[in-house]
Amino acid sequence: MPGKKLQWHLLAADPGLLPWQDNGVANVESKGKKICVARYRDAFYAFSATCPHAGGQFSEGWIDALGNIVCPLHRYRYALVNGRNTSGEGYYLKTYPLELRPDGLYIGLPEAGLFGW
Ligand code: FES
Repeated sequence: MPGKKLQWHLLAADPGLLPWQDNGVANVESKGKKICVARYRDAFYAFSATCPHAGGQFSEGWIDALGNIVCPLHRYRYALVNGRNTSGEGYYLKTYPLELRPDGLYIGLPEAGLFGW
């Protein structure tokens, strides 16, 4: 996220305690943002809970074999690593950096501006 300062927030002291669903996705909220965390091949990824196409909820989607989150509404695919719309429709999924620290899993959110933007 070049050019933007991040503020780090603790998501969970133990990532295993996030509300994981069978699809490997957990819904969380941090600083008022609805976020999904996905677990894929022993790594964690965070991204907006809502699809940029037409509002599908990724908590009802699934992770494919290539590491994409698939939206349940129209099946557009987004790379977990960077939010790239790998099915080619030209959208971009907002992703957030995560850090696993000794005291828990942290998420980096853009620092709020003067008016909370
Ligand atoms: S709302 Fe997600 S692909 Fe259409």
